[in-house]
Amino acid sequence: MNSLDRVIETRRTVRRFCGRPILRRDLEEVLNLARLAPSGANLQPLRYIAVLSEEKCEEIFPQTAWAGYVKPLGTPPEGQHPKAFVAVLADTEIRKTGFEFDAGAAVENLVLSAWEKGIGSCIIGAFERDAVRSILKIDEKYQICCLVALGYPAHSCSYFDTYDGDIHYTIDGEGNFRVPKRPLKEITEWVE
Ligand SMILES: Cc1cc2nc3c(=O)[nH]c(=O)nc-3n(C[C@H](O)[C@H](O)[C@H](O)COP(=O)(O)O)c2cc1C
Repeated sequence: MNSLDRVIETRRTVRRFCGRPILRRDLEEVLNLARLAPSGANLQPLRYIAVLSEEKCEEIFPQTAWAGYVKPLGTPPEGQHPKAFVAVLADTEIRKTGFEFDAGAAVENLVLSAWEKGIGSCIIGAFERDAVRSILKIDEKYQICCLVALGYPAHSCSYFDTYDGDIHYTIDGEGNFRVPKRPLKEITEWVE
């Protein structure tokens, strides 16, 4: 398996983080790779707000919702909160709709690049948009596509192929996640 395959295969969502801070230099490298993702018509409507300030991260944290299937166990406990957030924005003056594919591609680059550096992440789609807009003073012309929470992992995580269609991830007593993935055979049709 080459190194890209390994990064893709081993990356799982992380929801408890250890105390080690994220260096600005590392986050900058990660965001630079997000920037290079494919973009429809090459319009590049995405903008990023990289939040490293502990104070701001702690302001954002209560506005985010974690691991809906295993509430409240999946929420990072006190002392294991994310060490950074990235707000992924779309400039609607550049592209009004249809920027979600751009955001998906860029965020995947972001989380894989972070994982390659040992940094775990959780894409957050469930958050109080108005509150985050006001905390980060985001102009109305930007849509907030998602947040990405980041930090060095404080738990392990793995996936397994699910054959009964149950897609609910589980968490054990130490906060380790097991994530079911639909088998390739079940989701792929070949035309040869
Ligand atoms: C668009 C999107 C939104 C998500 N929103 C949340 C969220 O609000 N909270 C959360 O804890 N996880 C969120 N996740 C993480 C998913 O739950 C996670 O990717 C999924 O369970 C598969 O696990 P894996 O990333 O470890 O493979 C989101 C993922 C995506 C792609």
